[in-house]
Amino acid sequence: MTSTPARAGAGALPDLLQRTRERTLELTAAISDEDLERQIDPIMSPLVWDVAHIAAYEDLWLVHRGGGQPLLRPELAALYDAFETPRAVRGEIAQLNAPQAREYLAAVRERALELAAQQQPDAEIVEMVLRHELQHRETICQTLALAQLLGFDPDFREPAPAAPGGHSGLEFVQIEVGEFTIGASGEQFAYDNEMPRRILLVERFEIGLTLVTNASWLEFVAEGGYRERQWWSEEGWAWVTAEAITAPLYWDLSDPSSPLELTSCGPRELDPDRPAAHISFFEAEAFACSRGARLPSEAEWEAAAQWQSGAPTDRSGANVGQVSFDTVPVGAYPSGAADCGALDLIGNLWEWTASEFDGYPGFSPHPYPEYSQVFFRKGYKVLRGGSWATDGRVASPSFRNWDLPQRRQIFSGLRLARDVPQ
Ligand code: AVJ
Ligand code: FE
Repeated sequence: MTSTPARAGAGALPDLLQRTRERTLELTAAISDEDLERQIDPIMSPLVWDVAHIAAYEDLWLVHRGGGQPLLRPELAALYDAFETPRAVRGEIAQLNAPQAREYLAAVRERALELAAQQQPDAEIVEMVLRHELQHRETICQTLALAQLLGFDPDFREPAPAAPGGHSGLEFVQIEVGEFTIGASGEQFAYDNEMPRRILLVERFEIGLTLVTNASWLEFVAEGGYRERQWWSEEGWAWVTAEAITAPLYWDLSDPSSPLELTSCGPRELDPDRPAAHISFFEAEAFACSRGARLPSEAEWEAAAQWQSGAPTDRSGANVGQVSFDTVPVGAYPSGAADCGALDLIGNLWEWTASEFDGYPGFSPHPYPEYSQVFFRKGYKVLRGGSWATDGRVASPSFRNWDLPQRRQIFSGLRLARDVPQ
């Protein structure tokens, strides 16, 4: 580990760990043990696996590797290692039940704090452990949405801010040709896949002012966009026909006069001003094509995501951190606009890019190849910007997420891009 300062402040460590944990506990406390223990969907882990895995990761990195102590429960190491126990089998194997997983989580935390009182833990390990928990909290939210627990309504939920309305996602801002810094410097904590930082020439292009809205997506559905071969890639067409996809996941169009969106907290009217959510890369690509546009490349997205005064990191400037527990209408955070004018680049929904997940030139795995490297060049597409379920600590202009192009459980949306004559 390097000794460069990360974001985790030295003295405030117990506090920082506890604040992160409180929300994890609040979220999981709002779910019954039965729902925590069942496998809600074959592409996801039982929620209780995520909980125990958060504990195992903290024990492995903070206490064992960082602090030189033996593991608390070495017999659980393989079970809660994401690679030794892949998602496909997590629903079938014996594992800790909900009370046991909570107990494990608390026991690991206790020894992590004891250790921290004796020796200053490596700030980079702390930051990695915190972000790991935060990322799994978003995974938990994905699974919760799939579970469609009617009436799920956590106490910490806050209403959406008022938004101007009237955006479509089909308005553009122009980015002039120029050299842009892409990636993280490494001075602050960053994942290996964000480095090395480099300077890229990005040609003049246009990027969507906002995410594509439900109103615009409804038009695409009404026009028969899902049945129009010409908008779809070959792979996308194979997917949309084989799976008989006709609308975003969680849309309920059974009463055409009153379209619904089925959220984690129950159904609500499909809001024309909120961004179209839970779309696959294939759907994003087809929609863009139907509007004479395309997806931005990752480099273009990051060229647009520049702030003189720093990117928004909390709910004063972006829909992040599971506070709204939902999307909010596009453009609801004018103060978080990027220098180019684009709104909601951080938060609300992850944005599919045209780019396949790969290492940047000069990539080296750090601190372990299973975080990113094993996913390179396997057909994963990069998503940028974070969603309402992403913590502001994780969502940053250089943070790269990835998922398979057919996946829709992720809190994904679309921002268009298009060429302009050079
Ligand atoms: C970066 C969100 C794709 O959830 O697989 C969690 C984050 N890495 N535990 C994932 C992660 C290890 C990762 N994503
Ligand atoms: Fe993990």
